[in-house]
Amino acid sequence: MIKDKIILPLDVPSEEEAKDLISELKNEVGIFKIGLQLFTSAGASFVKEVVEMGIKVFLDVKFHDIPNTVAKASVEVARLGIWMFNVHALGGEEMLKRTVDEVNEICSRENINKPKVIGVTILTSADENTLKKVGINHEIEKQVLKLAKLSGDCGLDGVVASPNEVKSIRKEISNNGFTIVTPGIRPGFATKDDQKRVMTPKEALNTGSDYLVIGRPITKAKDKIKAVRKIIEEIQS
Ligand code: C5P
Repeated sequence: MIKDKIILPLDVPSEEEAKDLISELKNEVGIFKIGLQLFTSAGASFVKEVVEMGIKVFLDVKFHDIPNTVAKASVEVARLGIWMFNVHALGGEEMLKRTVDEVNEICSRENINKPKVIGVTILTSADENTLKKVGINHEIEKQVLKLAKLSGDCGLDGVVASPNEVKSIRKEISNNGFTIVTPGIRPGFATKDDQKRVMTPKEALNTGSDYLVIGRPITKAKDKIKAVRKIIEEIQS
């Protein structure tokens, strides 16, 4: 079902506001994303509570640290029962491999459903100048492909990427099951806000994206339920 491909970011500062969004939209979208703001204010116990409500959670924590620290933090994330979480592919091969290995091991040992581990390539907020200033002199697309390939080679389940990069990632990675999650989605009726390179939900799915992160076009709409339904209609049209 199309609704199961829509990830709604809970970009709000408090547990109360997050719960309001969940109860209003849980029958309309398949997945909710908890990012650093809400995770910091409401904590891991809140994540657990949401999971126990039967909600599929993408924990967008973008870990990046030494291999041991990321692997151990990821094990704790897996124990929360979330459906997906992410780490920065820039953390490197050892960090990625150890994370996958330790998450796999704990999940089989403790009988936990294994969360999808997704790599963050290059944030859509970065441009070539941002990369240059941190010493990366590749074109964005080349760098994204390099990191996507590394993520796949290290056993990650997929990547987060801009919808504009999906086609070349699919070409680069032969694994059909490689999951691509795309933010930067704007339906025909919405404004772009601060997103620069956007695609409509239909275009993004057609280009090979598996899951669409759609925030403000829904959360800032007067009628949020109507906004989701309009998006689904737009995809089906
Ligand atoms: O409101 P909007 O649809 O722009 O929200 C997009 C969501 O996806 C936000 O939670 C944002 O942090 C996240 N995101 C993004 N670009 C990335 C990675 C995550 O917009 N590269």
